[in-house]
Amino acid sequence: MNSGNLSKSSIVIHVEYSGELYELRTYNNEYRSLMMLIYDRIFTDGFGECLGMGKCGTCLIEITNKLQEPAAYERNGDANLQRAGQTGENIRLSCQLLIDEKIDGLAVKVLT
Ligand code: FES
Repeated sequence: MNSGNLSKSSIVIHVEYSGELYELRTYNNEYRSLMMLIYDRIFTDGFGECLGMGKCGTCLIEITNKLQEPAAYERNGDANLQRAGQTGENIRLSCQLLIDEKIDGLAVKVLT
C-alpha cells in the first residue's frame, strides 16, 4: 500500500534581498508559494501586498540560477507580468511558484 509522500525533504533556496544573501530552508508545502516563504522569513518591506492573488506585482523576483524549472500555479501570472512590462524570461511573480522538490537549489533576487 502506498502511504503517500509524508517525508519532509529539505529544500534550499538562495535569496538576495537589498544587497544581503539569505539561505532559506523549507520542505514540501510548508508554504503555499515562494512569496510566502520570503515574506515570512526575510520580512521584506512592501512585498506580496495582494497576498498571492497574482494582481499587485510586488513580489517580483529574478531567477539567477536553477537546477530545474520550478512548478507554478496555472493562473494569469504571465498576463499580469506582461501588463506590468516585465517580459524577461527569468522574471517571475514569486507568489506563483510552488514550494516543492522542483524549487530546490533555486537562486533568486528580489526586485521589488
Ligand atoms: S503577491 Fe501580489 S502579485 Fe504576487
